[in-house]
Amino acid sequence: MAVYKKVGSVKQFPVVERRGRHYEEITAHALENSIEHLNHAYSKKLCGAEGAVEFRDGGVYTYDNHGKRYLDCLGGYGIFNVGHRHPKVIAAVKAQLDQVCLHSQDLLNPWAAHLARQLASIAPGELKYTFFCNSGTEAVEGAIKLARLYTGKGQIISTTNAYHGVSMGALSATGREVFRKPFEPLLTGFVHVPFGDAEAIEAAINKDTAAVILEPIQGEGGIHVPPPGYLSKVRRITKKKGVLLILDEVQTGLGRTGRMFACEHEGVVPDILCLAKALSGGVIPIGCFMATAKIWKVLEPNPTIHNSTFGGNPLACTAASACLEVLMEEHLPARAAVMGNYFVRRLSELRRQYPQYIADVRGRGLLIGLEFQSKKVREAVQEELFYRGVLVAATMNANRTIRIEPPLIITESQINFVIDTLKSIFEDMGQPQKKKAKAKAKK
Ligand SMILES: Cc1ncc(COP(=O)(O)O)c(C=O)c1O
Repeated sequence: MAVYKKVGSVKQFPVVERRGRHYEEITAHALENSIEHLNHAYSKKLCGAEGAVEFRDGGVYTYDNHGKRYLDCLGGYGIFNVGHRHPKVIAAVKAQLDQVCLHSQDLLNPWAAHLARQLASIAPGELKYTFFCNSGTEAVEGAIKLARLYTGKGQIISTTNAYHGVSMGALSATGREVFRKPFEPLLTGFVHVPFGDAEAIEAAINKDTAAVILEPIQGEGGIHVPPPGYLSKVRRITKKKGVLLILDEVQTGLGRTGRMFACEHEGVVPDILCLAKALSGGVIPIGCFMATAKIWKVLEPNPTIHNSTFGGNPLACTAASACLEVLMEEHLPARAAVMGNYFVRRLSELRRQYPQYIADVRGRGLLIGLEFQSKKVREAVQEELFYRGVLVAATMNANRTIRIEPPLIITESQINFVIDTLKSIFEDMGQPQKKKAKAKAKK
């Protein structure tokens, strides 16, 4: 009896040889395959329309199939804190490939256990236990479940414009209608209050409240830094009311804001901490949530009540372990603080020079938001930056704002290059008769 409707005629993805025939073959079909088999919207995607296909990456740069170099100020939405393909992370993963890739699930997994210990040694306060998963969304999902399990209560307080991911639980915490509405009904028990308003959180807490979930800085919401004292105030309120505080540091964690964890800016220790994105050095996906021994007790009677087949796999854990070492050895959180200050200062100068285009510059460390006067200006500038070799992208919940979150190893001269490029774009925008880079490139 025939089981398969079709005989698979598409062969395995070819091993990429440097500039070899295989690579030429797959790039030739990259746009067509993306449009036909990923999403038709790729026909409108900027890089695809120009035939720019990812070729290789290293440090702060990504290179396309035409040999063009892009300074990466998008950082894969915040995954390349230690840079692209850091040699120490790559060496660790290559060695791991020769030993164990995915674990048996039965024997002890020394790589996950070691990474959990490493994380406990750098995490704030008494956060000691870790559950490993594969993404930020899963980390948030698990944190919400743990909060409900521990407290036996259902209500979760989140904030307007928050971004916590797109699975049904994480989406219920996400605070933007465009993501939520098409998938309703979402989980019950979620309320959203304005970000930055601790009193609103206090007012929303009731006898059914399990937890408050917050990003220390709203990333996808448009890089919004809350007023000073906000996090510590929320911590005091949640402690007083016996409510858990979940901090989603999926984007802000691991050096991005100038400290290893953004909550350290205010000396705040959450009850549950979510991490992902940069954790495994931009090499193998990983996510996790951490909590105290007291909270973790509820997972003792049935340790598999929350589980993941791939979570904690040796490849990802080895990459993460090496990545944490790199972050500390190269003092990347401190470097993010210094370079972030420099970047914001230079961007603020540009804002004073070109107020007709730039509406605001904000952020902390190397998590910077550049807000334009309109979506149209943002799109035009983003496009021109692409043609002139700088990658950026809009934030998910604020389309006038581009995020600037380069690898934390970015240098002053690379920042100067971005500033000079922006300046040249604004100059050209002021003189429409002058041909833009896009037009030039097309010739
Ligand atoms: C704060 C925050 N939480 C959760 C997520 C979801 O992470 P992922 O895309 O890895 O599922 C993101 C993604 O941007 C995020 O910024």
